[in-house]
Amino acid sequence: MTQHLADRTQPTRGPGHDQRRDWWRDAVIYQVYPRSFADGDGDGMGDLAGARERLPYLADLGVDAVWLSPFYASPQADAGYDVADYRAIDPMFGDLHDADALIREAHRLGLRVIVDLVPNHSSDRHEWFQRALREGPGSPLRDRYHFRPGRGASGDLPPNDWESIFGGPAWTRVPDPDGTPGEWYLHLFAPEQPDFNWDNEAVRDEFRSVLRFWLDMGVDGFRIDVAHGLIKAAGLPDMGHTGQLKLLGTQVLPFFDQDGVHEIYRSWRRILDEYPNQRIGVAEAWTPNAGRTALYVRPDELHQAFNFHYLNTAWDAAALREVIDASLDSMRPVGAPTTWVLSNHDVVRHRTRLGGGIARARAATLLMLALPGSAYVYQGEELGLPEVTDLPDEARQDPAFFRRGPHGDGSGDGQDGLRDGCRVPIPWAADGTSYGFGAGGSWLPQPDGWGAHSVAVQTGDPASTLELYRSALALRRAHAALGAGDGVEWLDAPAGVLAFRRRGADGVSLVCAVNTGAAPAELPGVLTAGGHALLTSDGWDGTGPLPVDTAVWWQE
Ligand code: NOJ
Repeated sequence: MTQHLADRTQPTRGPGHDQRRDWWRDAVIYQVYPRSFADGDGDGMGDLAGARERLPYLADLGVDAVWLSPFYASPQADAGYDVADYRAIDPMFGDLHDADALIREAHRLGLRVIVDLVPNHSSDRHEWFQRALREGPGSPLRDRYHFRPGRGASGDLPPNDWESIFGGPAWTRVPDPDGTPGEWYLHLFAPEQPDFNWDNEAVRDEFRSVLRFWLDMGVDGFRIDVAHGLIKAAGLPDMGHTGQLKLLGTQVLPFFDQDGVHEIYRSWRRILDEYPNQRIGVAEAWTPNAGRTALYVRPDELHQAFNFHYLNTAWDAAALREVIDASLDSMRPVGAPTTWVLSNHDVVRHRTRLGGGIARARAATLLMLALPGSAYVYQGEELGLPEVTDLPDEARQDPAFFRRGPHGDGSGDGQDGLRDGCRVPIPWAADGTSYGFGAGGSWLPQPDGWGAHSVAVQTGDPASTLELYRSALALRRAHAALGAGDGVEWLDAPAGVLAFRRRGADGVSLVCAVNTGAAPAELPGVLTAGGHALLTSDGWDGTGPLPVDTAVWWQE
């Protein structure tokens, strides 16, 4: 077994596989959320065998790589982001042979594979944490996490005032081995997710070893969960006030975006570079601004960082232009590609979030795919799936729902911070049990009529969102102007319209124009008389004003 798995360092590349250097600079990376993608064994939960069977669909869609959310051994307190064994597959998803088979098949089809790495915290069922509990205060095992005595005369107050991202205090008290109330441990997320102490060398050694384990299995990279959280400010100082959730991503916090994280990524980069075929690291880093994000992708650190500033931008031409410029400007000095993302497993699907239905979602996608850098597509967005907003409470599994309550984070921003609605298993077939998700049911209920969005219904329909994605991704491959480079040439456009030119090394230049305004917009001077529409998000024929919530790719 070990031998069989270890020979993955030189993956077989399919005939169409992209051998260019820096494949990741303009890659389109498709996020598979394994429990909701495809169910191979009919138990209602997606798995690796199901995902492997569907890889030809992804190759045909035209993406370059697949990112798999966690499939490791886990009690699933946070849908797998609570890892009990970093080197084992949870039985609900399969086993290491299934992972090996998936990686091999992806490579055969010319797809790269990125796996999720969860280094900020483990599961409370992880062997280290269990031993730390058993051994009690003073054990070296406790130093691998953040255990502290409580405050107050009897130690029954948390060691500091930090709040969990999922609501409530970020500390939980545990009994001492003799059963009396004992120390508290830190968990920035759920109590089942104790934070590692990254000042402890054993933690650093362990993760270097875990990286090598998966690199030896042949993976092409890692998406690093909570990459901004590993280092906590010395002494774990109080924040001094409540409502800390609102501050996430707005400033450097004693538990987020501390400068000490960067030396960890420098050491990981050295490991990635030991392997052939350009293995990459992608930071899930929530930072106050694009400049702070750029620090994670300096030449000796990670390769990419998610652009949550873009994801969080409203459907407004001026705001979008500002964030696009800020993103590109911040990445240029460090030489890293900008990334673009509209949807993932933690946010309201962009069809619903942007507030303009499917037309706006499609226009947003064409805008994203015309920008220089790497783009992330979340499973089901290519089907134009909406957020499922009416899940019954008893079906929900997101720990945020249980800790924050049914009204979510109370931010009033239209996103309640609850995440089951974007995780409903995707429809492959028009009807049948779980709409082709598997031979059994579906771990979250799928809405009636979900099959109308299915792959089967949309395939071959030129007006469908699936075919729009296929066309856009094929054009992105065919035209060097899309995706490549590190800047855009803005064109003068009426208020509410974004228009920019992309020039390819092949001499072809394309214009992307998108109307975010409330009325159709004339585009004099933007689209030259001699050109033609390559692709439009709503079937606009290229004559007359550009309709609202419509994007066009125009070849000059
Ligand atoms: C970010 C992941 O995307 C999210 O799903 C998870 O709950 C937290 N990190 C904690 O691991």
